[in-house]
Amino acid sequence: MSAVPNAGNGKITVPELLQRKTSAANSSSDSKKIACLTAYDYPTARLLDEAGVDVILVGDSVAMVALGYESTLPVTLDEMIHHARAVRRGTKHALFVADMPFGSYHSDTAESLRNAVRFVKEAGVEAVKVEGGERRLELIARLTEAEIPVMGHVGLTPQSVNALGGYRVQGKTTASAEQLLRDARAVEAAGAFAVVLEAVPRELAAQITRELRIPTIGIGAGPDCDGQILVVHDLLGLTFDQTPKFARKYANVGEVISNAVRGYCQDVRSGNFPSDSESYHSGKTVKDDKPVRISIC
Ligand code: KIV
Repeated sequence: MSAVPNAGNGKITVPELLQRKTSAANSSSDSKKIACLTAYDYPTARLLDEAGVDVILVGDSVAMVALGYESTLPVTLDEMIHHARAVRRGTKHALFVADMPFGSYHSDTAESLRNAVRFVKEAGVEAVKVEGGERRLELIARLTEAEIPVMGHVGLTPQSVNALGGYRVQGKTTASAEQLLRDARAVEAAGAFAVVLEAVPRELAAQITRELRIPTIGIGAGPDCDGQILVVHDLLGLTFDQTPKFARKYANVGEVISNAVRGYCQDVRSGNFPSDSESYHSGKTVKDDKPVRISIC
């Protein structure tokens, strides 16, 4: 029997991710690295899940890349739950994590817990992510005690954009590197099962990764973390603004969509779409009586 909970049925669990860190520490192989991506809707989640992503995060980055806001701050808990429910329906294999949005865990711990419970009950999330290190100690401990696994997030925390004065690499000075180390340690001590390190110098991320027993998930934190995460729109080339240098573009889906839509418009205008074979005909038979899928938009 395997020591890894649920191993064999393909479902990624929190204990399995912890186990990967332990086994990676005992071997020199990188094969256990954790591949994470964001998703905000059913088809994307399904494609990611079927392609073998380990962790799907309903990130509050939805505010910027899917809802067109300037920052992650405006997205509400209800909106996050709405997206999470869609992602849930497309996620069978990956660990399913959702971001607690700004304002949903910033007042008292009891209310934060109620909000996290909503994610679990209404959207079936398996873990929540909260931004912040030392200052989230009590919250992370309370959520963990309530059996809600927590992913921490330190370094550049986009919900702090106003306090930080912009999106900047963190941990570059000795003082801020030391603070970041304390934050990462605090997240682990409070009971988080993993921690995102965002926009952190490679050397510091490597040091934190060596020190912590829980997996580190890097975004702009170099290759030495235990896993990586990217915003799926960046990876697919579906963004309009300049992306950060760490956001490797694996496809240009934006261009594919533009070309498809241009082709469609051209065909409609020239009368080339729809063709006769794409039309129904009156007085014709059985074949046309079959139920059809109706798209309403
Ligand atoms: O909201 C998000 O997408 C994130 C990840 C990129 C870490 O927090």
